[in-house]
Amino acid sequence: MSVLLEVKDLKKHFPIRGGILSRVVGSVKAVDGVSFAIRKGEVLGLVGESGSGKTTVGRTLLRLIEPTGGRIFFDGQDITDLPKDKLRPYRRRMQIIFQDPFSSLNPRMTVGDIIAEPLVIHGLGKTQEERTERVAELLKLVGLSPDHMRRYPHEFSGGQRQRIGIARALAVAPDFIVADEPVSALDVSIQAQVVNLLQDLKEELGLTLLFIAHDLAVVEYISDRVAVMYLGKVMEIASARELYRNPKHPYTEALLSAVPIPDPTVKRERIVLQGDIPSPINPPSGCVFRTRCRYALPECAHTVPELKQVGPGHYKACIRDDIL
Ligand SMILES: Nc1ncnc2c1ncn2[C@@H]1O[C@H](COP(=O)(O)OP(=O)(O)OP(=O)(O)O)[C@@H](O)[C@H]1O
Ligand SMILES: [Mg+2]
Repeated sequence: MSVLLEVKDLKKHFPIRGGILSRVVGSVKAVDGVSFAIRKGEVLGLVGESGSGKTTVGRTLLRLIEPTGGRIFFDGQDITDLPKDKLRPYRRRMQIIFQDPFSSLNPRMTVGDIIAEPLVIHGLGKTQEERTERVAELLKLVGLSPDHMRRYPHEFSGGQRQRIGIARALAVAPDFIVADEPVSALDVSIQAQVVNLLQDLKEELGLTLLFIAHDLAVVEYISDRVAVMYLGKVMEIASARELYRNPKHPYTEALLSAVPIPDPTVKRERIVLQGDIPSPINPPSGCVFRTRCRYALPECAHTVPELKQVGPGHYKACIRDDIL
């Protein structure tokens, strides 16, 4: 299958200003050299602890924030430096679903206007009538009723609001969607419904997804492949099945040890990571994970590990081949 989206050595460093002259005194290395490709129709899961740079990756690849370095390719086109007017047709094809369905929908707009807004922005659906028809169709697509278009966001539950956010993202018929923790703010009982909806929509509409989550358990089911991020870098990437059964990076091993296993006969050691995630302002030298890694060697402080192949379609950024 052909590649729809690719990032090469993507970097986003946020400047830190200080002093009375507000000079740049440092930078937050939120994303620091990330490379991956997503094939057409594929779901790539992106997981990692809070602050590992997942949202920054998602927003940078849509160019909602500008990268500090690296390249972004969409459908074969390098979009990294495209000026706004030339970016527009690509913008339509790439949409985002936000984490918090409570703050991402304008409370003063009706659901109909919220969903129709991207149509207006992109000059699709010329007449009010056409737009209303499209909104009704979208509401049905996400399991809501066309009557809901006259109501306001506060009249809906969290799960319903996230469906509205999904309908809005789908309005302009995108090919690619960044779903940034679309279920993290929802009750656990509702999470599976929304993940199932995304899975169905993906099949029905042939979407390609970057599905961001904290939790490995959430992405396992929907993802074809999973990339694990830590402190602005990808630590491991593999098919979902391979990553869960055969993790090769110590960070993935630790994350997985926190995921409950349904089979009570299988025992997995719970690995508690010591300390907090270090600051991306001043990340550890060498391997950024080494300060919390139980397999770290002295040389891990000196060598920045490259992502290297350890199996079919399986890559890890770790110099130790004698573990896991
Ligand atoms: N606009 C900004 N200015 C400065 N620093 C930022 C900005 N946005 C994000 N950061 C920092 O970049 C790092 C990565 O943040 P990001 O939101 O991408 O992480 P995340 O993996 O999405 O975390 P979470 O799971 O909490 O959503 C964090 O240290 C964050 O504080
Ligand atoms: Mg985030």
